Amino acid sequence: MSETSIYGKYRESLERLKDDIISRIEEYAKEEKESGYGKVYEHLSARIKKDESMREKCRRKNLPENAQSALRDIRDSVGVRIVCDFIDDIYVNVERIKAFEGCRIIEEKDYVRSAKPNGYRSYHMIIELAEPFEDVERNIPGKYLAEIQLRTIAMDTWAALEHELKYKTEIKNQHLIVSELRRCADELAACDVSMQTIRKLIRENEQQH
Ligand code: GTP
Ligand code: MG
Repeated sequence: MSETSIYGKYRESLERLKDDIISRIEEYAKEEKESGYGKVYEHLSARIKKDESMREKCRRKNLPENAQSALRDIRDSVGVRIVCDFIDDIYVNVERIKAFEGCRIIEEKDYVRSAKPNGYRSYHMIIELAEPFEDVERNIPGKYLAEIQLRTIAMDTWAALEHELKYKTEIKNQHLIVSELRRCADELAACDVSMQTIRKLIRENEQQH
């Protein structure tokens, strides 16, 4: 299995990278909780892109199907998703991630403040982390890339349903479906703002008593 993997001998390094990112996130979450901020995210998930999906992405981007393409040219071999209760929490996480030791921000896309035309919302970051093991270009410490997506529960729900529907819709009524999805996304975004305001009111109240 590992011999045929597009990641070659770096498959294990990606596991280590993924575990490292997760434990760094869990660590600051614990600090935020203890400092009194509270729960900085609702849940966390991470994956290594499946061999076949990575090969398909290489072909789509006209890249050779090898470890160099999979680990350097394509930047989401490791993907982490942080799902938060409130919009503000997204930015607290973003700041903590930017402060990781040995972390360089390669790209940031704020689809929370500027939604994609279809209504998709999320904060995307491509980070480069220095890890104490060799990378595909033989550097030690190794430079490893990962994609981090941050969103609220509402944004996550929408993205999951939209993803599901994208593969099921026929051409018929396409226009209506697209505009209805956009409307749902905007309604959910309005709820996120309201929920955020409610939390603020509750927290202000707590401080007065
Ligand atoms: P990649 O080559 O895939 O990195 O493309 P990109 O950099 O143009 O994409 P972007 O950073 O905008 O999005 C990357 C990931 O975000 C995707 O693989 C999805 O997981 C998620 N995503 C982006 N747009 C959408 C969308 O419209 N709907 C859903 N459900 N997910 C999206
Ligand atoms: Mg991308």
